[in-house]
Amino acid sequence: MTARITQDEIKKQLEYCSELKEHFSYLDHPLAMVDTYGCQQNEADSEKIRGYLAEMGFAFTQDEFAADIIVINTCAVREHAEMRVLGNVGALNHTKKAKPDQIIAVCGCMVQQEHMTNKIKMSYPVVDMVFGPHELWRFPELLEEHLIRKRRIFATEKSSGAIAEGIPLRRDGKVKAWISIMYGCNNFCTYCIVPYVRGRERSRRPEDIVSEARQLVAEGYKDITVLGQNVNSYGKDLDCGVDFADLLAMINDIPGDFILRFMTSHPKDATEKLFRTMAQCGKCAHHIHLPVQSGNDTVLKRMNRNYTSADYLDKVALAREYMPDLVITTDIIVGFPGETDEQFEDTLKLCREVGYDAMFIFIYSKRLGTPAATMPDPFTREEKQVRFDKLTALSNEISGRKHRAYIGKTLRVLIDGETGKDEYNLSARTNGGRLVHLKGSPELIGSFREVKITDGNTWALYGEMEDA
Ligand code: SAH
Ligand code: SF4
Ligand code: F3S
Repeated sequence: MTARITQDEIKKQLEYCSELKEHFSYLDHPLAMVDTYGCQQNEADSEKIRGYLAEMGFAFTQDEFAADIIVINTCAVREHAEMRVLGNVGALNHTKKAKPDQIIAVCGCMVQQEHMTNKIKMSYPVVDMVFGPHELWRFPELLEEHLIRKRRIFATEKSSGAIAEGIPLRRDGKVKAWISIMYGCNNFCTYCIVPYVRGRERSRRPEDIVSEARQLVAEGYKDITVLGQNVNSYGKDLDCGVDFADLLAMINDIPGDFILRFMTSHPKDATEKLFRTMAQCGKCAHHIHLPVQSGNDTVLKRMNRNYTSADYLDKVALAREYMPDLVITTDIIVGFPGETDEQFEDTLKLCREVGYDAMFIFIYSKRLGTPAATMPDPFTREEKQVRFDKLTALSNEISGRKHRAYIGKTLRVLIDGETGKDEYNLSARTNGGRLVHLKGSPELIGSFREVKITDGNTWALYGEMEDA
């Protein structure tokens, strides 16, 4: 059974927030900076940290010299992400020197690894607080403890995780919103650190999710993405008879004009029922991010992905039967330990066959404590880079071709922001999540428009508003 943090406990955290507001009232304009690395789940977590900080009276800044408190929400998925975090944390020596009362907190997946917490403890004295994803719900309490006891806080106990409802949220923007529907992962792909730092799969109750979505629609949000490491296993721990497809249908039934998206789907759990539901639900985007990781069955087995390339291609074909206009995107790892050139060729072949609209390609990064970290890894970084470049070239070629095929078509898009450029000043997304650049008044942000596509390249589409 999934542990749940009680509402009394969250109420207590809000009381800490009031006390902290009092404490920080000596500052004229208390300012906080929250810097986020990693996936959208982490972005969603940062919205909770901002929610708590807003309750404490903080406004927000991107200027690390102006901030009274800095929270760095970290990612552990690849070494590169960790190096960036450590570099940026090291640089905070300067800001703290200029502002000695500044509070520096590092949280998130990276610090849920013991060796990283130890590293921060020993080598980064500038950091005042460290807390893992499982402790986020009691951030106000930890902050108060730091201030009262005047000592460094390290809250990174091992845990399989809990569910905490009712944490205040501070969202960026008024058009797009995320809802975490579940946390953790049970899949233990052999290369991946996520299950170790995020705990076991646990689902929020459908009524809590639907009521959050209803509120977002009432507030005028037009683009809602429901999040989980593997949304297809939503509800398996709940025993309430609602699976992911049912949940999509429930959100789709909320009255209002909005697009419903989701991230991420594990291919082994993507079902015909899901594809049918996507096709039937008018608000559900015809987009699926379906990470394949590799096109070779031996590699897939050694990755513990639990499907073959043929299973994957069958699912793609089935999904396209239900939605001929389906946009499919993927993640690929090149240079998994022992992956040969021939095995990599299978990945190229599969990618050509599927014809992905976009591909996110990563060079394998060794993660301490995962099974793949102990597998023989004879290929050099340079050899892996060659594969990466080949796959990137293929990905660009396919995306370019797919994008150019939109030219001349008229599509309904959601205008979601400004680009900062003069010529095409607005950005928009198609139902399938493709980026479109447009010209028009910023007042249109948040509205749906019919757009004629006039150009397309590897990265984006360009269009003109039909009714401008
Ligand atoms: N839960 C999601 C993925 C989360 S991590 C899913 O399974 O689809 C996002 C992507 O990072 C993964 O799909 C994978 O392609 C990549 N990734 C994860 N661990 C990695 C590692 N050790 N090295 C390189 N890439 C990795
Ligand atoms: Fe990592 Fe695999 Fe879980 Fe995705 S499904 S988070 S890749 S272990
Ligand atoms: Fe990174 Fe944690 Fe997300 S490791 S990818 S921030 S779940």
